[in-house]
Amino acid sequence: MARPFWLGTGWKMNKTRSEAAAYCATLEAASDLAVLPLQLFVLPPFTALAEVAAALADTPIMVGAQNCHWAEAGAWTGEISAGQVADCGATLVELGHSERRAHFGETDALINAKVKAALSAGLTPLVCVGETAEERDLDAAAVTVARQARMALSGLVPADAARVLLAYEPVWAIGDGGEPATPAYANAIQGSIKNAVLDLAGQSPTVLYGGSVNPGNAEALALEPEIDGLFVGRAAWQPAGLLALARQVAAVVEGK
Ligand code: 13P
Repeated sequence: MARPFWLGTGWKMNKTRSEAAAYCATLEAASDLAVLPLQLFVLPPFTALAEVAAALADTPIMVGAQNCHWAEAGAWTGEISAGQVADCGATLVELGHSERRAHFGETDALINAKVKAALSAGLTPLVCVGETAEERDLDAAAVTVARQARMALSGLVPADAARVLLAYEPVWAIGDGGEPATPAYANAIQGSIKNAVLDLAGQSPTVLYGGSVNPGNAEALALEPEIDGLFVGRAAWQPAGLLALARQVAAVVEGK
């Protein structure tokens, strides 16, 4: 069976619980979402995680956290374990987003420890990789993302490595002032990510693209052969944005 095409959004540090509930209510009311050929996901902040997971429990939309700690439990003030994320009803956890690498000092080794914790808790890790603006060049970027992806999967048996989703998110493409990667550039780097981890996962991994995805570029990105999903920030922070992208992308990936 063909793998689903992924489409989802991380809300970053946005939304109160009532805003999160309103977002979920809009998604639940969109009866066509369930039949679209997409695996949808939403990553709310921790404060809304349990409520969003409960609100979307009867939908096919997956819910996940944006981070977790590497330890099972203990004296880690202010942190959240993978088990606690799972206990909220989440099934996914985003790890190694460039904002966490840049602002919270997350290293490849630390992200690898978090991947292991997530897998032990039964979560699907969604690991972000991507080159900086200084490395924006097909050759330099390929080296960086290969290192990041291989380190994320280091020490895993192939069956576990195959459970890890990857997201290619070039740092220069993300957020305000970001410039989306061209479909051809993203496709080329995503192909190199897949080649880089083939021996570790025993199969070609699922690799999403993220970074300034919007209604103007989503279809062209989705049509690229190495792009298995889209990971959206700003353009899907309103439910209408996610719905519009889902309908647009579903129409082009059917039969991909
Ligand atoms: P934007 O879509 O707002 O650029 O954010 C992308 C992102 O960080 C997804 O993880």
